[in-house]
Amino acid sequence: MMGPMRPVIVAGNWKMQTTPADAGELAATIARRTNEPDVVRVLCPPFVCLAAVRDALLAEPAGRDVAVGAQNVHHELAGAYTGEVSAPMLEGLATWAIVGHSERRRDAGETDALINQKVRRARDAGLHLILCVGEQLADREAGRAAAVVTAQVRGCLEGVEPPSPALDGRALWLTIAYEPVWAIGTGRTARGGDAAEMTSTIRHTLGGLGFAARGEAVPVLYGGSVTSATIDEFLAETSIDGALVGGASLKPDEMAGIVARAALTARSRGSQPSS
Ligand code: PGA
Repeated sequence: MMGPMRPVIVAGNWKMQTTPADAGELAATIARRTNEPDVVRVLCPPFVCLAAVRDALLAEPAGRDVAVGAQNVHHELAGAYTGEVSAPMLEGLATWAIVGHSERRRDAGETDALINQKVRRARDAGLHLILCVGEQLADREAGRAAAVVTAQVRGCLEGVEPPSPALDGRALWLTIAYEPVWAIGTGRTARGGDAAEMTSTIRHTLGGLGFAARGEAVPVLYGGSVTSATIDEFLAETSIDGALVGGASLKPDEMAGIVARAALTARSRGSQPSS
């Protein structure tokens, strides 16, 4: 039996880098250098650069297929939350959003329960989500990686009704990024086989939460020190559907290499880029 045709996705997380003055140019350059229609490409600049990136991509013929994503959304819709941005405010600016990134868990104290609320807000606003999960080094060394990630997936998605693609036409509303915390920004990556094992754990957990066919329709990305030199190992695993790229996503040469490799994977798997 053929498996579900999940898209191959490369998402760039620019974190707290770029300004409205230079983000558009960088996005347009990346769009030109990664012009591969078989790969879903998403760029996630800081909030203040969303409009510049959107406009630059619209003006660039190679940029029309590149989606814009936010790096976070607030868990409430509106109110007295100084400095925050809610999911509905992103309308017209972004169609994707990252939630639950480990840097926010670490720096902003985000818990699975809070991220669960963010997932609902982003989903209700019609955004495509990239939900990040991943264990600490101590968890992996103690043999707890699978248990920790399972608890995160459950906590972040418990009670979130898996929508039927047939009903809302958004099969791609949820993507999960497995990002071992010890691999983020360290130059140290997981082994492809270990990441694939975690991907299976994640899909098994999704099945337990009511996602059809054990979560087989949900794309799972690997993240953590992905570069054009390390992407191969992950895309060689058929359960891994692409990458969430941090540092290397600011470098057009790197993105060109990563997306070119992803395009080979997409074509060999017969993946469909449409959402
Ligand atoms: P990195 O970041 O590629 O710089 O390790 C990945 C991420 O935080 O998503």
